[in-house]
Amino acid sequence: MTGGLSGKTCLVTGAGQGIGRAIVDRFCAEGASVIASDISEEHFGDFPCEAVAVKLDATDAKAVVAVVARHPRIDVLVNCAGYVAVGDILECDEADFARSLRINVESVYIMARAVLPGMRARRSGSIVNIASVVSTTAAARRRFVYAATKGAVIAMTRSIALDFIGDGVRCNSISPGTIDTPSLGGRIAAAADPAQMRVDMIARQPMGRLGRAEEVAAVAALLASDESAFMTGSDIVIDGGFAL
Ligand SMILES: NC(=O)c1ccc[n+]([C@@H]2O[C@H](COP(=O)([O-])OP(=O)(O)OC[C@H]3O[C@@H](n4cnc5c(N)ncnc54)[C@H](O)[C@@H]3O)[C@@H](O)[C@H]2O)c1
Repeated sequence: MTGGLSGKTCLVTGAGQGIGRAIVDRFCAEGASVIASDISEEHFGDFPCEAVAVKLDATDAKAVVAVVARHPRIDVLVNCAGYVAVGDILECDEADFARSLRINVESVYIMARAVLPGMRARRSGSIVNIASVVSTTAAARRRFVYAATKGAVIAMTRSIALDFIGDGVRCNSISPGTIDTPSLGGRIAAAADPAQMRVDMIARQPMGRLGRAEEVAAVAALLASDESAFMTGSDIVIDGGFAL
């Protein structure tokens, strides 16, 4: 699909590392103009030269509106910023609950609300939300509020898809299984027995391995491009068989 995004301007949140970063690389390779945004500037120097790096907290509505005003033509929005709270309901305190909702749910609301008027006016646009197979699709132990937020992302995706279907705007989500990213590495390192935790994480995928961020980016490229013009409201599971 090389060149499948040429002529499109794509805004990606959580672009500094992991899946978001892989999406930036893939979108640049597909010929897109990419606005790579992240709350942290730590990895901005590594972006491909075609990408414009923007420091942006996706939960800060004022800052989001200002960035969108500076880039009035956004053809594709990828909501990738996310946070994994570990714990069952009794371990999930109110601060973690609120933080999870803010980063995983409110950011999608704020970002989509900012770009949708322009997409509607141009009668064209694609929003891609990164959900998770741990959501309404499958349960995982000690992911209580994370699963709740990702279920909400899938629900928001379907609502936006239906409400804007007559405006030429599509909205789909991607539900990855366990993907080898820096944040996953951090969760493994923080476990009581990191080696065992890695074995357990791999065992969740019947394919016997972790997913790669580039594999998720390939699905994002498809949903961003006109090749998927007949898809809206879909959730694409990419999980090595986790949910089977
Ligand atoms: N890694 C996995 O196994 C996996 C599985 C399913 C879903 N996901 C989802 O994919 C997305 C990316 O996951 P990842 O593992 O690549 O994460 P990651 O932690 O490696 O990267 C997340 C990025 O988001 C940025 N970020 C955090 N809060 C932000 C905010 N408020 N505004 C803007 N940027 C912010 C971080 O600085 C970081 O660069 C998340 O939504 C995550 O829930 C990941």
